[in-house]
Amino acid sequence: MKTELVFATPAGIETEVLVVLAGDAQTEKSPDAKPQPLLLTSDTTIQSAAAAVLTSGEFKAGANETLLLHAPAGLAAKRLLIVGVGKSAKVTAHSVRSAVGTAIRFVKPRGIRSVAFALPEAAELPVGPSSRAAVEAALLSDYDPDTYRSDRKDLSVYDFKLVAPAGTDAAAINVGYAEGVIVAESQNFARELVNEPGNKLTPTILGQRAAAMAEKVGLKSEVYSTEKLHELKMGAFWSVSQGSAEPPALIVLTYEPEGYDAATYKGPVLGLVGKGITFDTGGISIKPAEKMELMKYDMGGSAAMLGAMCAIAQIKPKVKVISVVCSAENMPDGKAQKPGDVQIAMPFKDGKPGKSIEIINTDAEGRLVLADGLTYARQLGCTHLIDAATLTGACVVALGPVSAGGFSNDEETYAKLNQALTISGEKVWRLPLGDEYYEAIRSDIADIKNTGGRWGGASTAAQFLQVFAGDTPWIHLDIAGMAWYEDTKPFIAKGPSGFGVRSILEWVRSYES
Ligand code: BES
Ligand code: MN
Ligand code: ZN
Repeated sequence: MKTELVFATPAGIETEVLVVLAGDAQTEKSPDAKPQPLLLTSDTTIQSAAAAVLTSGEFKAGANETLLLHAPAGLAAKRLLIVGVGKSAKVTAHSVRSAVGTAIRFVKPRGIRSVAFALPEAAELPVGPSSRAAVEAALLSDYDPDTYRSDRKDLSVYDFKLVAPAGTDAAAINVGYAEGVIVAESQNFARELVNEPGNKLTPTILGQRAAAMAEKVGLKSEVYSTEKLHELKMGAFWSVSQGSAEPPALIVLTYEPEGYDAATYKGPVLGLVGKGITFDTGGISIKPAEKMELMKYDMGGSAAMLGAMCAIAQIKPKVKVISVVCSAENMPDGKAQKPGDVQIAMPFKDGKPGKSIEIINTDAEGRLVLADGLTYARQLGCTHLIDAATLTGACVVALGPVSAGGFSNDEETYAKLNQALTISGEKVWRLPLGDEYYEAIRSDIADIKNTGGRWGGASTAAQFLQVFAGDTPWIHLDIAGMAWYEDTKPFIAKGPSGFGVRSILEWVRSYES
């Protein structure tokens, strides 16, 4: 999809379909109060073209409700598509995303290839965030996981025009538009990675894809494998990869703000740590066959971090960011680790020896690779950490495919995430950590064990990670239920979601000096 920003009167735009939003202006709450659809544009030609159908009562302007008119009178567009946003007093960046997504996903299967979208004129929504939301949603909703479908190659919308009325705040619109393109393309990059099956995306290939992206956007990248893991004594990370014929990849991307000077930089150094299990069979504690194919998405956390880094490199916030991705394949094999094995995690930077870990279940592998990833990020000088991982089925049981689980050892750090969510529109629900959960992962024969029993599985897993985050302010995002959607959402097709990219980016930006 090619996107373009134009300042013009929407009625004059030549396109296959012009999309406008409509809200319900009815403010009375009584059940008999009739909806009053109101177009969110001051363009009187569009208003006249839609007047008859809007007064007919056929269209209620409910959220994501659609109405298509052919040959609308007086418009240069061949069709007019009206999309509802619900109560017009409540238009938000999120309702714009949903409505634009609904429009694109409406036109795609109908063979419509060029779309223009009239930027909504709504008092409560500033034009900057609104333009960003619109172009973001256009690019996100145009994406389908059809890399390997030869019959579906040509369903994309080719051309998307964001039409802003001339005379509006052009500077804010330009910035919002430019950011929206960067963010959505970065999130789609993450989705492409998550969509790749295990045979097409091994840890080595993930390293190559990360390095190619880094090269393109101007990030420093280092990709290491087995030797480096041994050199750093990453016993926990290595234990997962030892059962696979595919070597692991330790990927480190670094973003330095403009004018960065290591000797004088006093700002925070943010560490983005991602779980990159390119396929999770469970290892010797093997998973049941049902739905095992989905375990190709067990690198969703690392994709979120790589997507966020891709956006960071282009948006250029004034803060240093390092991403550490720990990638391996979790396989059963003659060389695979076994339940009962004891692994020694990477030593801490203060010289303290690494924790000994008793392996109870080889399927609890995500926390093992992250343990060493977090320690390494701290060794590299990170002052604040965030990790993302498809870590536990327990988190999916608790929150469903609605919210990711959020955990933190620091209120201020978590408050910044909550603030970031108001911009990203993504949902994260905070879940608890605490000493009681630590009790569950005490081992009789080692420092800790890698599973905490049946109950509170998302929290015991997070508690395991906290041992390695130590006193560094840290957030853990369990995205097991969010990295892959079972159903299509208004602006994200079912399949790989790229969840986390937008929130992690905004969390990073909140540290700008
Ligand atoms: N990758 C899985 C978690 C997962 C489950 C992700 C469902 C996406 C959807 C993780 O490695 C895992 O297997 N976790 C185990 C931990 C258990 C053995 C303590 C789980 O959740 O069952
Ligand atoms: Mn597992
Ligand atoms: Zn896993």
